[in-house]
Amino acid sequence: MCSHQDLETVRQEILSKRDSKKPCISICTGTGCLASGAGEVMAAFTAEIESQGLKADVDAKGTGCPGFCEKGPIVVIYPEEICYLEVKPEDVAEIVSQTVKENKVIERLLYVDSATGEKAIHESDIPFYKNQERTIIGNNIKIDSKSIDDYIAFGGYTGLAKALLKMTPEEVLDEVKKSNLRGRGGGGFPTGRKWEEARHAAGDIKYVIVNADEGDPGAFMDRAVLEGNPHSVLEGLTIGAYAVGSHEGFLYVRNEYPLAIENVLIAIEKAEEYGLLGKNILGSGFDFSVKVHRGAGAFVCGESSALMTALEGKAGEPRPKYVHTVVKGVWDRPSVLNNVETWANVPPIIEKGSDWFTRYGTEKSKGTKIFSLVGKITNTGLVEVPMGITLNDIIYKIGGGIPDGKKFKAVQTGGPSGGCIPERLLDLQVGFDELTKAGSMMGSGGMIVLDEDTCMVDVARYFLEFLTDESCGKCVPCREGIRQMLKILTKITKGKGKPGDIELLQELAEVASEAALCALGRSAANPFLSTLQYFRDEYEAHINEKRCPALACKELINYYIEPEKCKACTTCARKCPADAIIGGKNLIHMVDQDKCTKCGTCFEVCPDRFAAVTKLSGVPVPANLSEDQRVIVREVREAKAS
Ligand SMILES: Cc1cc2nc3c(=O)[nH]c(=O)nc-3n(C[C@H](O)[C@H](O)[C@H](O)COP(=O)(O)O)c2cc1C
Ligand code: SF4
Ligand code: SF4
Ligand code: SF4
Ligand code: FES
Repeated sequence: MCSHQDLETVRQEILSKRDSKKPCISICTGTGCLASGAGEVMAAFTAEIESQGLKADVDAKGTGCPGFCEKGPIVVIYPEEICYLEVKPEDVAEIVSQTVKENKVIERLLYVDSATGEKAIHESDIPFYKNQERTIIGNNIKIDSKSIDDYIAFGGYTGLAKALLKMTPEEVLDEVKKSNLRGRGGGGFPTGRKWEEARHAAGDIKYVIVNADEGDPGAFMDRAVLEGNPHSVLEGLTIGAYAVGSHEGFLYVRNEYPLAIENVLIAIEKAEEYGLLGKNILGSGFDFSVKVHRGAGAFVCGESSALMTALEGKAGEPRPKYVHTVVKGVWDRPSVLNNVETWANVPPIIEKGSDWFTRYGTEKSKGTKIFSLVGKITNTGLVEVPMGITLNDIIYKIGGGIPDGKKFKAVQTGGPSGGCIPERLLDLQVGFDELTKAGSMMGSGGMIVLDEDTCMVDVARYFLEFLTDESCGKCVPCREGIRQMLKILTKITKGKGKPGDIELLQELAEVASEAALCALGRSAANPFLSTLQYFRDEYEAHINEKRCPALACKELINYYIEPEKCKACTTCARKCPADAIIGGKNLIHMVDQDKCTKCGTCFEVCPDRFAAVTKLSGVPVPANLSEDQRVIVREVREAKAS
């Protein structure tokens, strides 16, 4: 393609070969759905369409992740947009003969609202999707993730053509600055400003880089975008390169993302073939090429200077940033690093204008944000929401609230170095500054919901453990400081905390925040600081009363059978792996505390109608009963009477 007109001609050619009324079956073949059998479902559709002689009348394609992975494999049938969840290969013949051929809906495959029992036929009617604003991942279920034609058919590369052929680099820069797009990878730094600094930095050779390291545990936003819609990232990167004056880009992606790597390599090859990457893109005279660099998967490699060091082929360790990487980055050349989602936001900003983008959001946080919504929440998955939405709406309207009738306790945002936000702040609007002000942060979009059974001291300990493991060890405040913090937190959760521990933790937190070399160490204390801010009583209960209020810390609880509730059904005694239940026929069962390993099995298996096993913390366990006291008198009498 050598011009804007060529791109339009190609698009029209692709569209002219398509019939919008022709049934099209989209099968999510993202990593999540593949793990639940989407590969077999896809194969079954291909075989069924062939065997029913429908090859010319029906299209079927593998697509990216629309977000509701826990209900996968997901299948959407267009043009009616009928959405089926948890589809199995055995359902495929019926879907083809009933829905595709006869337009009949198969009720059992629809989404059912667990609260109201209502079914939803269309994807857009499912409450999980209804309250989202999916400008980035919305096309994932519509586009064949391996097809450049599909991307072009849905308007792909229009933004690039506009940028290269109708705008100067300065105009592109101005539009991105006007959009107030802020980095989606963690810090929320204004993207336009970063590009501007690199553009004005000295030197002819400059680099643009995609950060697809995505090391936060449980996060998969970037994977879903790269796997599902790789061209959107390449298009954004090329626009950015043009604005910055760069002719070479890198995509740094963790090697644990094989499908993302596969799809992005196909996308690069196709884009080169179509003249959308390489020399003289779209006849504009602008040259740009992209290389994929596979990362070894260390969390710290996502940090900008560590990532750039790794790109140079060295061990991925952070380095001091006396001079910003936009001035001296990879091989000391000006380098712009942006997150996958940041780059994917660029094409629509250029195509539709910054005014379109700033329609969404708060004063200082514009556009949408993708979150990975997980934890103690009814609907888990990827959600894309407009900035400014409240946490309450995400958790209850989209997430469907807390399962099993449990109470909400807190929501952890911002990844391992983020913080916990308590119930009383649920009306907080989601935005970079709003979350930081509340003691947490946006991070790259992790959102973990915690319920009443979660111990907040243990949450802090868990994240400190992760960060201690991931610390590269280069500087003392991080290497030693957070290790010491972890030691103290671990002692507290084991009931060995002592007065003064909180103050010592605060001191260590202050030193790490001030003196660590990179943001991993500087933000490592956040999980502790935010849980202390909102749940100080839990720290004090652990230290002063040796009590875990959430009844979660193993060393601080005892399992106890309430004599008046036990009906001697013998289930717990049969299931106890440590032989720690003193049982017997028609005898109240008791836990032998010396043998008990606190595995919790008896608590789980005691039938709900008895609920005789309880957890105690901070109080002495009542003494065991004598043999006489253990006899279940009432049941014996009833047995005799009959
Ligand atoms: C320890 C650590 C890990 C990070 N991991 C990532 C990551 O996986 N992906 C990412 O985009 N940014 C990550 N960041 C943030 C990057 O350093 C950088 O700020 C970001 O990629 C810039 O892009 P943005 O401006 O588009 O957000 C990490 C930062 C730190 C300190
Ligand atoms: S703060 Fe931690 S991760 Fe960063 S350089 Fe120092 S030791 Fe390494
Ligand atoms: S907690 Fe585990 S080990 Fe202890 S009594 Fe119950 S089942 Fe046995
Ligand atoms: S399972 Fe519950 S009711 Fe049954 S013997 Fe054990 S404690 Fe008693
Ligand atoms: S991978 Fe299919 S819905 Fe997420």
